[in-house]
Amino acid sequence: MKKVVLDTYEDVCKAAADIYIEQLKNKPNSILGLATGSTPIGLYERLVRIYNDGGINFSKARSFNLDEYYPIKKNHPQSYDYFMRGHLLDKINILQSDIPNGEADDAISECKRYDAQINAAGGIDLMLLGIGHNGHVGFNEPSVSYNMGTYLTGLTDSSISANSRFFTEDDVQPTKALTMGLGEIFRSKAILMLICGKGKAPIAKKLFEGKIHTDIPACFLLLHPNATVILDKAAALG
Ligand code: GLP
Repeated sequence: MKKVVLDTYEDVCKAAADIYIEQLKNKPNSILGLATGSTPIGLYERLVRIYNDGGINFSKARSFNLDEYYPIKKNHPQSYDYFMRGHLLDKINILQSDIPNGEADDAISECKRYDAQINAAGGIDLMLLGIGHNGHVGFNEPSVSYNMGTYLTGLTDSSISANSRFFTEDDVQPTKALTMGLGEIFRSKAILMLICGKGKAPIAKKLFEGKIHTDIPACFLLLHPNATVILDKAAALG
């Protein structure tokens, strides 16, 4: 696992954007794994700017998002579908994008459909990840099995409370989600994790101890042959 520490959040977003420029230059029809959360917002803003300036072309690329609340309407402002359209997908010329369907009647069939689509596309070339305060990746919560495909999961109290800031009092906050499993994520050819802000310093410290803590899902990155973690100083130093 390669570790890169940069001064600021903006520096992290710039470095990550450069990786996307390179990826699409080398393989225009890349399969991109995308993530939500506040961390990738700066990267997405930058990619949209670069796209508008003609510096990147997504016209042959396809994306698969990591996760989605379940159940949730696509047009709910807190759905990851809504988030992705607003921050990136509606603003670039990406060929095709897929997000687990939080409106599906049958979650199990939806997970199977999602896995089948990823497999048919040839797997993910570059998977973007954030990290939860408890080490969750996507919505793979602590102590999850390391070999799963997409599945329906319950959220831990820690994740529900971390994400409650986005929901209003009138919303019923989902307590479940559809998420790519760690096995599926691990099969990505390259993984890019971004860790920013002082609040993530304790989990970053744990990750870089270099031990496989089975209760910290992000530790699977230590075993991946092509994983890069970019941190800002606030997350790296606390
Ligand atoms: C959510 C998402 C994760 C994301 C995490 C951290 O739980 N499911 O994919 O990594 O939030 O988000 P943030 O970047 O806002 O800290």
